[in-house]
Amino acid sequence: MIQQRFGVLTSGGDCPGLNAVLYSIVGAAEKLGAEVLGFHDGFEGLLLPDSFTKLTAANTSGILKTGGTILGTTSRGHFCGKVTHGRKTEVPAPFVQQASQTCRDLGLDALIAIGGDGSMTIALQLYQAGFPIIGVPKTIDNDLEATSMTFGFDSAVACATDALDRLHTTAASHKRIILLQVMGRHAGWIALWSGLAGGADIILIPEIPFELEKIVDEIQRRTSQGNKSTMIVVAEGAKPMNGKESYKVNTRGEWQLGGIGEMLCQKIEKKTGQETRLCVLGHLQRGGAPTTLDRILGIRFGVKAVELALEKKFGTMVSYQDGIIRDVPLAHAVHRLKCVPPDDQIIEAAKGIGIFFGSSSL
Ligand code: F6P
Repeated sequence: MIQQRFGVLTSGGDCPGLNAVLYSIVGAAEKLGAEVLGFHDGFEGLLLPDSFTKLTAANTSGILKTGGTILGTTSRGHFCGKVTHGRKTEVPAPFVQQASQTCRDLGLDALIAIGGDGSMTIALQLYQAGFPIIGVPKTIDNDLEATSMTFGFDSAVACATDALDRLHTTAASHKRIILLQVMGRHAGWIALWSGLAGGADIILIPEIPFELEKIVDEIQRRTSQGNKSTMIVVAEGAKPMNGKESYKVNTRGEWQLGGIGEMLCQKIEKKTGQETRLCVLGHLQRGGAPTTLDRILGIRFGVKAVELALEKKFGTMVSYQDGIIRDVPLAHAVHRLKCVPPDDQIIEAAKGIGIFFGSSSL
């Protein structure tokens, strides 16, 4: 019987599949006789006394299929590794020491951190400060380096595709142009995949700056060929050629992406004279049950994380590459984001069926 004790936390924005990973970690650990403590609200749980729950097969039964995270999460607080607008911060030394003391007091043999780019940046800093840490990659945006897919992405794409299916019928009935704004700050994976699966006519992603005039030309070309409606998917981080992303400052004084759909909607309507409507999908993409693929990916990630914890392969992150679950150094995941390459095969397929990306250069 292995007498080990592992800590686990979920950090950053929530996404479908987090509970599947927790369910899997508990299942794999219990099978080996190891104990799992789940910290509340991400890394913040390491700062407060008793801010954890002992996770067991009994109290995690049934969570596999549920959205969100039973542990709670935050993308703010003392450990905020990445502030909006790309600014990075270091976790101040006193919080690192306090968290380290918590791990020692509780006799943790390993800490499994489930999160995206910001959380993996924090995990790397903690590892460099001596934490026995293992990362599990999550984000609906699928923009984390060193893994070809994160769990949550497939569920978000399914949600956006479903939205497009619904918008098509109303757009066609009213002969309107409809824009669907989806998440994706720096990477357009959700817009690209859902746009292709959902039959979009135009897809605008951050990696391919758009030209408004070319979009208008394309809509007019479609209209002249007898198409009565046009469906456009736009990622929230899409920007015009030689222009910037649309940001607004929220009530906390933080820069927040938003407004690109609204801006385009007004300009397209004015220039085409055709009624144009906007649907901002927002957090619907992050909620709800994980798809089958995300459940399987989450379970496989959880099992691998426990394996790495037992092998004491700290400072690593579980990763999915070419159908295989493996481990990579945490440092490989955090230095840059995984954006859509202009020659991506999905882009090629989309262009192959006439989808327009808003730029004459493609
Ligand atoms: O999870 C990533 C993401 O969904 C981004 O695409 C989006 O901009 C951001 O999170 C919004 O997060 P929140 O509203 O929780 O700050």
